[in-house]
Amino acid sequence: MKLHLTAPCHFGLEKTLAFEVRRAGGEDVQVTDGRVNFSGTAETLVKASLTCSAAERIGVVIAKFKAQTFDDVFDNIKRLSAGDFFPQNAAFPVVKGQSINSKLTSIPALQRTLKKALAEAMSLAYKTKTLPESGALYPVRFFLHKDEFTVFLDSSGEGLHKRGYREKAGTAPIKETLAAGIIDIAKVRGNDIIIDPFCGSGTFLIEAALKALSIPPCLNRGFAAEKWEFIPQGLWGQQRELLRAGIKSDSEFMAYGYDSDPGAVKLTLENARKAGVEKYIKCEVRDIKDFSYPAKPCKIITNPPYAERMLEKVDTERIYKIMGEQFLPLGENKFYVITSDEKFEELFGQKAGKNRKLYNGMLMCRLYVY
Ligand SMILES: C[S@@+](CC[C@H](N)C(=O)[O-])C[C@H]1O[C@@H](n2cnc3c(N)ncnc32)[C@H](O)[C@@H]1O
Repeated sequence: MKLHLTAPCHFGLEKTLAFEVRRAGGEDVQVTDGRVNFSGTAETLVKASLTCSAAERIGVVIAKFKAQTFDDVFDNIKRLSAGDFFPQNAAFPVVKGQSINSKLTSIPALQRTLKKALAEAMSLAYKTKTLPESGALYPVRFFLHKDEFTVFLDSSGEGLHKRGYREKAGTAPIKETLAAGIIDIAKVRGNDIIIDPFCGSGTFLIEAALKALSIPPCLNRGFAAEKWEFIPQGLWGQQRELLRAGIKSDSEFMAYGYDSDPGAVKLTLENARKAGVEKYIKCEVRDIKDFSYPAKPCKIITNPPYAERMLEKVDTERIYKIMGEQFLPLGENKFYVITSDEKFEELFGQKAGKNRKLYNGMLMCRLYVY
């Protein structure tokens, strides 16, 4: 069965995700702001779920139509062949929705209408009013954009940023999906040396190791769709096995993390062990003022403290100046830094070759590339 799939991502990471989606077998790939739409088979969905490092979740689109009134929503959903997707005992909560530039704006009212209409479609499909919702979970989500209503089943369940290695995080951690996107922009490869001098819970180091060693980021977690009837059960095991066979075991890759907080260092090492990459990550307590380069050229990838989330502005400004004193001249080393401070380049003491806008949660940041 051909599936229409949709995957939201951080604004600015669409290209990274589109590449990952194609690699997973996705076809008809279309990129819009903060989202990649594509089509494929059940195998594409499984592969994309396990391997796409920048996707927030992957949805199976079950309906798409113009909607300017609640009747439009109800009538279109009622006509859905619900039996193709949901078994009679499916639990189908309408968990979340979004409305942008559209006539219908009330999310709770849309949720209620969608739920009622889906129940009607299920009753018609199974010729019964009894819908126990006691079986597998099929979380329903929707987005309304310029009056176009898209309904999808959330195949991921928990967001895909939850890889399973970071139950605990330090102050102001970067989201795993955003870190992975930055690692991709930095073109991290199997023989690279990576340094994060403000490593916190180790997210950049771990995401870099996963990418360098071809370890699929979501290999060891579960997905809502693993219990869905229209996705052949065996596919998950088969794909996991194939992907496991592709993991590199003889890599020269190394990542070094430093942080002034001993708690952060402990957390990084603990998370690296949970992710199965402890062999490739070294971490110790070190203040930025004691930074030094390794013997071979490296890539520094980091998000230093920024005033909105951690310290006073004067403190972060002092840190950015120290970074300049320690890192410059860069020589053959590369430097990628994400911060919301528009004065970063001035304080650091050198203009970046490139910068690109990226959102860290709701906070507008820039990734400066040196
Ligand atoms: C924004 S957090 C980094 C979060 C990290 N990327 C993660 O995902 O968990 C900044 C980190 O810088 C550390 N830090 C603050 N001042 C420092 C300094 N002077 N030298 C080294 N590390 C410092 C903090 O302890 C904190 O862990």
